[in-house]
Parts: sequence; C-alpha cells; structure tokens
Amino acid sequence: MKPKVLITRKILAEAMDYLKEHVDYEMGAEDRNPTKQEIIEKIADKEGLLSWLVDSIDKDVIDSARSLKIIANCAVGYDNIDIKEAKKRGILVTNTPGVLTEATADLTWALIFAVARRIPAADRFTREKRFRGWELELFLGKEITGKCLGIVGMGRIGKAIALRAQAFRMKIIYTDPQRLGPEEEKKYKAFFLPLDELLSSADIITVHAALTPQSYHLISREKIKLIKKDAILINVARGPIVDEKALAEALEKKQIWGAGLDVYEREPEIEERLLFLENVVLLPHIGSASYETRLKMAMMAARNLVQGLKGERPDNLVV
Ligand code: DGY
Repeated sequence: MKPKVLITRKILAEAMDYLKEHVDYEMGAEDRNPTKQEIIEKIADKEGLLSWLVDSIDKDVIDSARSLKIIANCAVGYDNIDIKEAKKRGILVTNTPGVLTEATADLTWALIFAVARRIPAADRFTREKRFRGWELELFLGKEITGKCLGIVGMGRIGKAIALRAQAFRMKIIYTDPQRLGPEEEKKYKAFFLPLDELLSSADIITVHAALTPQSYHLISREKIKLIKKDAILINVARGPIVDEKALAEALEKKQIWGAGLDVYEREPEIEERLLFLENVVLLPHIGSASYETRLKMAMMAARNLVQGLKGERPDNLVV
C-alpha cells in the first residue's frame, strides 16, 4: 500500500506524475491555497505533507496530524513551519535549497533595473499613448554601473547577486551574521560592513536574509532613516524583514529614491499606500518563478517526501 500524503496544492505535471507512482495523495485544494482549517481536516491520517511557503504549518496543524513523518516544503525558506514543534514530534522537515538561486538572483536584478530606470512607469506611459517623441528629460532614472551595491545576507542568493554585480563594475559591500572568509571575499569582490554602515553607504540595497526572529524588521523604521536619499531598496527575501509601513512612509516622503518589492509582510495583503506610489515597483512573489526552477523545486520537494516516507534520509533535511 502506498503511503497517504497531503499535497496542499497541485504542483507541476512532471512532479505530480512522480508522486502518483509513489504515494496515495489527497489535494488540499485544486487551484487556490487551502485554508489552515482545510489542512487540519485533511492531515489527520496522512504520513506525508507536501507544503508551500504560503501554508502555515503551525502547532495546530502539527497537533492534528496523527501519523505524520515528513513535511516537504516546496521552498527554500521554511519560516511557515513550526520547526521546533516538528522536531519535538520527530517529524522530518525538508526544503529546496540551491535550485532557485539563479532565478531569484536574475529577478532581483530585473527589479533593480525596473526601479532604477522606472521601466513599469515608462511602459504604462507608452501604452497610454502619451509618448510624443524623444525628450532629454523623459523618465530620467539612476545609473547602475560603478555604483555601490549593499547586500544584506550573503548566502547563496546574495553571492549570485554579487557575481552579476561585477559585470557592472560595482563596489560590493555586504553584511551577514557570518562574515565570509578572505578567499570568498576575494572571489565575490565583496567588503564586509556592519548593517548600519552598509545602509548609509550603498546606492542599491538588496535583502537576501532568511526570516528568523532575529531578522524580523531588520530593516526597521530607524534603519530606513539611515538609507541615503537617492538610494534604492530591494526585497526579494521575506516581507517581514522590512517594516513595510515605515518603508511606504519613507517612499511617500521621498526619504529614499525608490524600492522594489517581491514580498510583503502579510501576503497577499500589501500596505495600501504602496499601491499608489510611482517610486516603488511591486511584484507578486515571483522570485523563483521560471518554469525550469519551479519544476526543479517541485521535483526536489517530491523526492524529499518520498525519501522520508521510505525511511531514507532526505537529501535536503532541515530537521
Ligand atoms: C522560497 O523558496 O523561499 C522562495 O521565496 C520561493 O520563491
């Protein structure tokens, strides 16, 4: 008999085919994210759970699972899971590291350029048939080449951002709880600075930290005040790392030049004021959303799940 599994939402066809071979699955919901109550109702008799970063797998959910052996999260971040509770109950937790590094770094750069060169606003302007010919001062933006890039969180994605920045001859500064060794600093041409100094020096600041109790509002109201008036802030990591209300206020008052956000504090809600500002570019959490990467993530999560259910050590074990 195949093990019973809950898949909170349909994943790409190839991964579904793989799962069909190995498990007996039930879906949380077909074309929407299931509610926490729906997960609770369906998890009781399941040995495995394939979850997304939007599913809150907290103590209530874990408590209602009587046979759960593994939670395979289809994301590199696992802040949606109560890891302590899972560990206490001997439930394995896995994630999908590595495979989304390049796609997320690419999207970060797309967002940097979109903000710096005001691309979404220029696109809207053109579609509205307001283009009346070349003008010297039409949509003036910020240059990237040679500027100072500040990377907050120098993990896999931060490093991939730094490699791309070298092509733009940027000065690269970074901050991280763990400083890189001299070899890596040389490879990434990156200089370590404490957060406050990084914020007050960089022309473009990009956030790539994991969400933990320590990184919650790391970019707080006070820290936003340290950012230069003509600088850009990008967040493709997790919304709660940046104080969204304080950021909206700073953008409104033009205390900073611009921002690019792919993530929000209370997704899918977005601080209302941001929606009306021209100096922010907003995306719907699509950092890793290339077909190739999402397929790799789905396959990785599915394999982790099956490995755990077979009693093997999953490749990407968190706990
Ligand atoms: C992750 O995997 O944590 C990303 O946010 C998904 O794009």
